[in-house]
Amino acid sequence: MRQLIAGNWKMFGRLTDVTPFAEAMRAAPAHVDLLVCPPFTLLERFATALEGGQMALGAQNCHANPQGAHTGDIAAPMLVDAGAAYVILGHSERRNDHGENNAVIRAKTESAIAAGLIPIVCVGETEGEREAGEAEHVVRSQLQHSLPPGFAGVVAYEPVWAIGTGRTPTEDDVKSMHAAIRAALAAQLGQDGAKIRILYGGSVKPGNAASLLALPEVGGALVGGASLKAEDFLAIANAAP
Ligand code: G3H
Repeated sequence: MRQLIAGNWKMFGRLTDVTPFAEAMRAAPAHVDLLVCPPFTLLERFATALEGGQMALGAQNCHANPQGAHTGDIAAPMLVDAGAAYVILGHSERRNDHGENNAVIRAKTESAIAAGLIPIVCVGETEGEREAGEAEHVVRSQLQHSLPPGFAGVVAYEPVWAIGTGRTPTEDDVKSMHAAIRAALAAQLGQDGAKIRILYGGSVKPGNAASLLALPEVGGALVGGASLKAEDFLAIANAAP
């Protein structure tokens, strides 16, 4: 399976950043799938700038309803209009900042799929949960309650304590968590569970990308901070097997 190297720009980026980044991506390696998920305000500009290239475009959130009186929210069909093909859902920053629980994430995931988007559903334990030996249990429960039946998208494992901290799990911990996620997907989705890419996210940098991406059941990376610099993002893409 080709790896997916996805950049999550979070609440960073201005219009002037789009063209230089998109132009730099034309030098990206052809053996990986590439994705950038900028803030809503940059989607249309990115859609134009990426035309004819290999990089796909995604958003970072959507509402569970396809339209309605929800001030300040964006619906999945609107993301499609703006040129998005993917949407990140259930990121721990959404779970924490906006109180999104598994049921909300599942509803958003269903809405994204109905609109024709590929959802990237994020799961991951807190540091306290890992220290308590609960990491796999927490992640299995997030998968069970966030993914609708027949889910066909991407899963991103992002240990909350590794996001933006420069800390990463050990290779053995990544291996066992990705194996546990694969087993949970098989239990939930049957044979289709094997087709789902499982990304690792949390302090992925040019210096650690090769070793993380080479681990079994790691199908790519969800990159935050290092995706803002084209040079670093390209180095991560080049490190993919
Ligand atoms: O969505 C991306 C993740 O939250 C990882 O962010 O690479 O800045 O640690 P980070």
